[in-house]
Amino acid sequence: MNGQDNSGNESNVFEKVVDFVDERVGLKTIQAKMLNEPVPGGSRWAYAFGSVLLFIFILQVVTGILLMFYYVPSTDHAYASTQYIIHEVDYGWFLLSYHFWGSSAMVVMVFAHMSQVFLWGAYKKPRELVWLVGLALFGIVMAFGFTGYLLPWDQRAFWATVVGVEIMDKSPLIGDFMARFLKGGPTPGQMTISRFFVIHVMVLPAALMGLAGLHIFLFRKAGPAGPFRGTPEELKAKTDYFFPRQIWKDIVAMATVFLIICSLAFFEPVVLLEEATPDPGDYHPEPEWYFLFLFQLLRLKMFGGELGQLMGAIVLPGAFMALLAALPFIDTSPERNIFKRPVSLIAWILVMLMILVFTVSAIINRDFLH
Ligand code: HEM
Repeated sequence: MNGQDNSGNESNVFEKVVDFVDERVGLKTIQAKMLNEPVPGGSRWAYAFGSVLLFIFILQVVTGILLMFYYVPSTDHAYASTQYIIHEVDYGWFLLSYHFWGSSAMVVMVFAHMSQVFLWGAYKKPRELVWLVGLALFGIVMAFGFTGYLLPWDQRAFWATVVGVEIMDKSPLIGDFMARFLKGGPTPGQMTISRFFVIHVMVLPAALMGLAGLHIFLFRKAGPAGPFRGTPEELKAKTDYFFPRQIWKDIVAMATVFLIICSLAFFEPVVLLEEATPDPGDYHPEPEWYFLFLFQLLRLKMFGGELGQLMGAIVLPGAFMALLAALPFIDTSPERNIFKRPVSLIAWILVMLMILVFTVSAIINRDFLH
């Protein structure tokens, strides 16, 4: 009897606290707005990629902050402090490896999310701005990978950055300025590591948080695109709310990705090479795997010489990004069914095949060189 009274009192206290906060913050309205968003045509696994991206990013922030308690961004201590994290800090190796694999997972997810919205025709009117802000987010995710790669200051980090900055240097107009700004001197050194560090831990996270907020605001304003097949009446009849079915799918997808990243960190932990030196010795510089296809593109014979390199490194990728940005304004037909958009379907298959073939051949080439 007493127990029942107690639990009654406890729930009373809880309700009072909720009411107190609700009166001041409008908690219940926020909750209703967040969770009662209609999902036309019902919940789908395909819609989970965006939420998974947010989830991975939050964990990258958490693990990144923990790493910063030990990491020292200087040419004298970056390598030693990273070794200290791996060998001396309790579970430091796991933390660093989780952060490392988390960045790869983010790149994979951003490609999956982009593919989904492209194939579903979700970039079309009225979601043009959602798509454009998404493209900026894509750039930020790739920039995170590039700036983070230098920080351990081993041979791999140093030489990938040298190659990356050299490629950047070739771009017209801003290339020279960007390369000098990033390097902060004639050769990579203290200024380079300081600048990469500030960009990696302050500029990019702030930009990602701001733009992700804008992306989701614009997405909520336009409403979810829903499936590409079915009449408006059919979609309306099948409509679910974000809570509980979509949120459940999102949580299962997040948990799966989390377990995959943990397993990769556990079974394939980060191992550093020798400390960075201005002499590569017999080390062949190469970027992180998600930049390998660009690296391989540059190795093609047709991109020989100064002009060829400019084409492969800057003009082609730049033109591709410009085409993606212009896409919602060029492709104005309201048709979203991918099976009735053969050009889009074939273009997507070709781009994916090219990335796959170039990445695999870069890996085969690397194994051959080493
Ligand atoms: C850090 C990167 C990103 C985050 C955190 C993010 C997050 C999200 C979230 C949570 C949604 C709503 C649910 C969903 O459909 O998944 C969404 C929708 C959307 N995103 Fe992203 N996104 C990112 C990158 C991108 C990129 C690179 C693009 C394309 C260039 C893009 C284009 C879109 C579009 C068009 C929608 C609307 C989908 C629809 O209405 O069905 N996003 N994003």
